[in-house]
Amino acid sequence: MYELNNEFEDYYGDKAAYYRSLVEQLKGLLSIERHPMTNMSQMASFIYHSIPQLNWAGFYLTRNEQLQLGPYHGKVACVHIPFGRGVCGWVAENKQSIKVDNVHEFDGHIACDSASNAEIVVPVMLGEQLWGVLDIDSPELNRFDAQDLEGFESLVQAFCEVTDLEKLVF
Ligand code: SME
Repeated sequence: MYELNNEFEDYYGDKAAYYRSLVEQLKGLLSIERHPMTNMSQMASFIYHSIPQLNWAGFYLTRNEQLQLGPYHGKVACVHIPFGRGVCGWVAENKQSIKVDNVHEFDGHIACDSASNAEIVVPVMLGEQLWGVLDIDSPELNRFDAQDLEGFESLVQAFCEVTDLEKLVF
């Protein structure tokens, strides 16, 4: 049985080291299976329970030239997001990560959960194609800093290394 062993005090103590440790734990957790549906499901729960002050963690996947809801942890969410709409849609269009300190100031923000105030979204790329995005929400304004953004990028990179993205039939 895989056990989570994360103390949030470590997160607040040395955030970079904490994310490095999460990357190693995630690789171990995802080493059992390379199928994307399984690994996205595990990763959403792993992030949600390993990082403090989150109210949503999960994936949106490219389908029919828009984003469609994938595996996640948190309250029910909107199903379709057109490219270019909201924070996730911005990332889909620009293929680069973003940290938003106050989502209410972000043009076109889609409020799935009114409790969300800050957000990080990281693209998941398969070659030049946008495969999907990892979306992280927090109820705390200004919740994330540059180390969080780098940390989530490194988690996505680890996910891509240990997952056969092309196996997704969607
Ligand atoms: N807030 C996101 C939509 C997804 S939910 O937060 C889960 C956005 O503006 O793209």
